[in-house]
Amino acid sequence: MYDFNKVVDRKHTSNIKYDLRDKFFGRADVLPMWVADMDFETPDFIRDAVIKRAQHSIYGYSFRSESYFQSIVDWVQKRHNWSVNTDWIVFSPGIVPALNFSTLSFSNKGDSIIVQSPVYFPFFTAVTDNMRVQLNNKLVLKDGRYFIDFDDFEEKAKTADMFFLSSPHNPVGRMWTKDELLRLGQICVQNNVIIISDEIHCDLILPGNKHIPIASLSNAIADITVTCIAPSKTFNMAGLSTSSVIISNKNLRDKFEQVLSRYHLSHGNIFGTVASEAGYNHGARWVDELMQYVNNNYREVEQALLNSKGTIRLISPDATYLAWLDFRNTGYSDEQIKNILVNKARLGLSHGPIFGEGGQGFQRMNLATPHSLVKDAIERLITAFNL
Ligand SMILES: Cc1ncc(COP(=O)(O)O)c(C=O)c1O
Repeated sequence: MYDFNKVVDRKHTSNIKYDLRDKFFGRADVLPMWVADMDFETPDFIRDAVIKRAQHSIYGYSFRSESYFQSIVDWVQKRHNWSVNTDWIVFSPGIVPALNFSTLSFSNKGDSIIVQSPVYFPFFTAVTDNMRVQLNNKLVLKDGRYFIDFDDFEEKAKTADMFFLSSPHNPVGRMWTKDELLRLGQICVQNNVIIISDEIHCDLILPGNKHIPIASLSNAIADITVTCIAPSKTFNMAGLSTSSVIISNKNLRDKFEQVLSRYHLSHGNIFGTVASEAGYNHGARWVDELMQYVNNNYREVEQALLNSKGTIRLISPDATYLAWLDFRNTGYSDEQIKNILVNKARLGLSHGPIFGEGGQGFQRMNLATPHSLVKDAIERLITAFNL
């Protein structure tokens, strides 16, 4: 069994989560449960691979070998039942870069892109920073669960050029069902809308659920889909800037690769390469144990909130380690909620409104942290809000 209880001191390691608290929260003593990386150690088999490569004394230009690509193919096949070819896989230094490269590759200024708020905020900037037009197909919250408004999606698809899908969805934690994905895919096929499916959280699935890559559903959907995956979230190695974009349609792939090579970004970095390969080849058991642990953290939060007055609610998740908490019944404004969290509870969460329309009254809490810290956080939350 891997030990996820260990509390590692991350201070003074140039990490965003702890070392930039002052900048983001105005004080350095908040318990940071915001940016989406984990407080768990990157697994030993990845650290060993990085150390081994680091011990060679030259860090010159590198390339990704066949075994690197094969490790991705094998992982995607075993974990997600999706058969892909090595030559469909394109490197990207990250998924946010991949969203932006996609926008540049497949659309022109003034074209329209569908997003589904509340959603990971770089989805918005990948549209607007590139002078594209955002069409928001806002998610619908019904009885504590989020759904897609398909009538609205279909209407927007008539004029849209692209669609940014978050699957599983950050921040609402929803895994889209096969029926939902098929329906989205079919509407996009009918309307010539290119799907950029951000599946960075696809390995972080809570027990009992199964991720479905939208491109695995039919050849027609695969033909219009760009799928983004990465070992960064899965194995806690975001600092190594290594991710993959899977594009079976050669025409789309060529366009994407042209943008990458224009900026000379395809080399990547040697440590990310060996870490990715080690993770995908040896990480199955680690991820399974991780998500069991995260699931227990969710249960802790859920139970503690239910045992209090039930004013703050956890949106029941299917995936991710990011708890989406509903503060609307507290009666406080977003600014008041933030102020109580930071200055009274000393908690640094992700502020709901940054995720766009539908994020008001919510906060996102990162539960990929040792149980003792989750317990501490939830006690602080309950005390600060007098629950
Ligand atoms: C949905 C989603 N996409 C992309 C990213 C970040 O990707 P990257 O760091 O590879 O740019 C995150 C990080 O939280 C995310 O949640």
